[in-house]
Amino acid sequence: MYRCSDHAPEDVSQALSRSLEDLQLDYVDLYLIHWPFRTKPGSRGFDPEVMAPLCLSETWTAMEGLFASGQARAIGVSNFSTKKLEDLIKYAKVPPAVNQVECHPVWQQLALHNLCKSTGVHLSAYSPLGSPGSWIKGEILKDPTLIEIAEKLNKSPAQVALRWGIQSGHSVLPKSVNESRIKENLSLFDWCIPPELFSKFSNIHQQRLLRGEFAVHETCSPYKSLQELWDGEI
Ligand code: A2P
Repeated sequence: MYRCSDHAPEDVSQALSRSLEDLQLDYVDLYLIHWPFRTKPGSRGFDPEVMAPLCLSETWTAMEGLFASGQARAIGVSNFSTKKLEDLIKYAKVPPAVNQVECHPVWQQLALHNLCKSTGVHLSAYSPLGSPGSWIKGEILKDPTLIEIAEKLNKSPAQVALRWGIQSGHSVLPKSVNESRIKENLSLFDWCIPPELFSKFSNIHQQRLLRGEFAVHETCSPYKSLQELWDGEI
């Protein structure tokens, strides 16, 4: 992924060249647009003050150039709503391979899942455990339904959350700096959640954790509300 300040078409290939140099690589396997917004060139971080006008289709055309050159073996997006992904698929010459989004039992993204399935875009889940140790401070591992299912299966709530993702058909990107948890998070492939327990996930109250307030502003941002940023999926 590259910085949102590098979305101007002329900056996209320079940003990848810099990363390839830093990584000492000739190509990356996958390159993503981090957010469906753009910040002013040279700016750092996210703040309504640094928002710049949108140029998503031009950025995508530049991404297609990187795909054609072989510097990015696959190209995709991140944090795209169902509508923004649908729009991108309409104007893309090279369809996105991946949409990496927040996805876990407390934010299941059913509409986006359906679109991804029907169009062949791979959904990849960040914060699959709710990022409890970050500023997001999600508490999904304390969800009573998740705990109940975990107890029935003799697994940890984290394993059940990750296994739910895999059985839903997406990939999960859990983070841990703890060796035993990394092993725990990998032990997902010799068991499954049976249908009678899997159906209980539909009872879980849904709540987006990473809402993106930092990108919304009445006058400074192209997105005047969270409704606009997520096209109603909030
Ligand atoms: P730690 O690094 O101390 O293991 P996410 O992947 O949703 O962003 O969440 C990452 C957070 O979840 C980190 O704070 C990590 O802490 C914690 N975490 C990772 N694996 C587990 C686990 N199996 N059980 C509980 N917490 C976990």
